[in-house]
Amino acid sequence: MDLVVVSNRVARAKPNEPMTGGLAAALLPVVEKSGTIWVGSSGRVRDGAFKDSFAEIQSLGTGALAMLDLPAAHYGGYYEGFANSALWPALHSRTDLIRATQDDYESYREVNAFMARALMRFRKPTTAFWVQDYHFLALGAEMRELGVTNPLGFFLHTPWPSRNVISGVPHHRELIEAMLAYNLIGFQTDEDCEHFSDYLRSDLGLHVENGLVTSRYGMSRLAAFPIGIDVDGFVAHAVRAAAHPDVSRLRKSLHGERLAIGVDRVDYSKGLVNRIRAFDRLFEMRPSLKRSVSLLQIATPSRENIEAYGNLQDDLSRLVTEVNGRHGEVDWTPIRYLSKGFSQTVLAGFYRSAQVGVVTPLHDGMNLVAKEYVAAQNPIDPGVLVLSKFAGAAKELDTALQVNPHDIDGMARTLATALAMPAPERRMRWEAMMEKLRAGNIQHWFASFVEELEKAHGASEKPPSRFGWTSISGRKPSEMIFRQLRAATSSLH
Ligand code: F6P
Repeated sequence: MDLVVVSNRVARAKPNEPMTGGLAAALLPVVEKSGTIWVGSSGRVRDGAFKDSFAEIQSLGTGALAMLDLPAAHYGGYYEGFANSALWPALHSRTDLIRATQDDYESYREVNAFMARALMRFRKPTTAFWVQDYHFLALGAEMRELGVTNPLGFFLHTPWPSRNVISGVPHHRELIEAMLAYNLIGFQTDEDCEHFSDYLRSDLGLHVENGLVTSRYGMSRLAAFPIGIDVDGFVAHAVRAAAHPDVSRLRKSLHGERLAIGVDRVDYSKGLVNRIRAFDRLFEMRPSLKRSVSLLQIATPSRENIEAYGNLQDDLSRLVTEVNGRHGEVDWTPIRYLSKGFSQTVLAGFYRSAQVGVVTPLHDGMNLVAKEYVAAQNPIDPGVLVLSKFAGAAKELDTALQVNPHDIDGMARTLATALAMPAPERRMRWEAMMEKLRAGNIQHWFASFVEELEKAHGASEKPPSRFGWTSISGRKPSEMIFRQLRAATSSLH
């Protein structure tokens, strides 16, 4: 069995480099241990004159990482244009921020078609393709156009909004029809999956029952697969990180003060402005907390060429300066605001040093920072997670302190509760969350999606596919992936 995973951004195989976004960080530990080929953008562009557009193919664990230069003429319209100025805002229910031209849409389709052609290089009769995220909604349909009958799966890492909201995307109908070329379409939560099914029923007039829908491409299955993290790997990172110089410098600088931590890309979906305001309010409501707690906000710059992101960076810098000016002292800074990324290991050490993890997005598919914060805690003295009820993670992490990120006063009160929480209650809440994290870790997510893809493809084929899911060993691919991942994880203990 050969699995090819496709995403716009890929994680380069350098463990100590910062990674942008949850997707790449989450996929790395499973992709490298499952013998998968991971195909994505190299982050560079070139014009169409070159014959082979793969900039680099390198080994990645037992598999490989293949990075593709995307066409220069279409990259801007695809990435900054349609993907991140039309789809991203709509998927996060910010239709007011949708900006997209017809050219952007055409570039998006061109890049999807370009990726489909590039993927032919990895196609064998036994290959299954698993496409990640909103950059490639139409990639499956482009592959079918090229005659591909192999299993095609798709997983959306963001939320899927209600039908009124998604209808704000130009060409929504065409795109969603194209998505039905995938045999399996996965979402983070049941709610996302229901929103998608509602759209299919009401706007496309399709019959959806028990997560199955039939279109001109055949049958597709729709289901929720909440993404997890590599729990054991992250625990190991957190323990190791204590010795890292950045982590000891942070701890030394605290002088007994408590720490709250937030780690996000600078994105309007992350609720950063409201979070800083909640800390402002906390220091107003409880002046006694001044000097005894501060917020470390790691805010990695993101998509800076897009106006809404540039504006947000400016707003945040102004707000942080204002709040620090209002509450700070010559020897105390309430908000430590860092505009850069850190490696997974250093982040794990930072999380373990913080008594409160603050994850308060306005909308988020899952939010893996919430899960990583929990996994990184010291079991004897765990910190408290303050989590937005609008993050997908809130469905599983129901013993976190959940907040409404639009209610600044409410968030301030919850932060005060978190800071005052006694150790037995912290342990009880943390243990319940760890149990959920272990049950739904990334290895489980990966293997169960592949298993469902196998079934969905089998069910959609009439007559039965040439793709028999048999390998030289005679084992089904999902069994093999389970075995490889199980072997890989047990070596971590
Ligand atoms: O997790 C959502 C996501 O959009 C990923 O698809 C992406 O890799 C990540 O956030 C970071 O965004 P970008 O690749 O645009 O920097």
